[in-house]
Amino acid sequence: MKIAPSILSADFANLEKDVKRAEAAGAHYIHVDAMDGQFVDTITLGPNIVHAIRPHTKLPLDCHLMVQNPEKHISAFAKAGADIISVHVEATHHIHRAIQLIKNEKIAAGVVINPGTPVSTIESVLGDVDLVLVMTVNPGSGGQTFIESTLSKISLLKELREKHGYTYEIEVDGGISDKTVKRVLDAGADVFVAGSYLYGAPDFQAALKKLRDAENA
Ligand code: DX5
Ligand code: ZN
Repeated sequence: MKIAPSILSADFANLEKDVKRAEAAGAHYIHVDAMDGQFVDTITLGPNIVHAIRPHTKLPLDCHLMVQNPEKHISAFAKAGADIISVHVEATHHIHRAIQLIKNEKIAAGVVINPGTPVSTIESVLGDVDLVLVMTVNPGSGGQTFIESTLSKISLLKELREKHGYTYEIEVDGGISDKTVKRVLDAGADVFVAGSYLYGAPDFQAALKKLRDAENA
């Protein structure tokens, strides 16, 4: 399993320190949540933040675009240093084009579905993507409760990958903690985004290890 700490819950006045803390603790990706105040109500991070943290970590920057018409922003995130860009199927009429735009930047492409969106909406692009992000809370903020009904979509994505020989990683985002991680791992997820659980813990490294312990439980 891979762990992707979400810097949405980091200290924005000390991002360098909080990115380095994640890397030192053994994280695999740094998860960057971009919100535009339209696709979701909140406004958060943009390409300028990706550019600012890029020199401070060797880890892949996993950019989750919760923005309307993500096509318009792909090139800016790629130039800023994104290694993975994921776009919501609900945010564009042109998901296939958006994924091609990401691949044209020679970086990894991901597609995201909200808790209320079925897997069938992305079936036609599953052969094109490097990552499928299953939202396990409704996007917009950290610290929300994990939504159990998302588990069956994780298992279905795993089945479809096996059946068709697809290669995407299955990532989950929202409400991941030591209390939920095992069920999600058993359902078939590969990459675990965690924000408030890790950055809110008294000991980041110990909290990250607790997530990884799910593999041996
Ligand atoms: C939610 C974001 C998440 C968020 C997760 O809209 O996409 O990445 O940081 O936060 P936690 O882990 O606190 O649920
Ligand atoms: Zn996210």
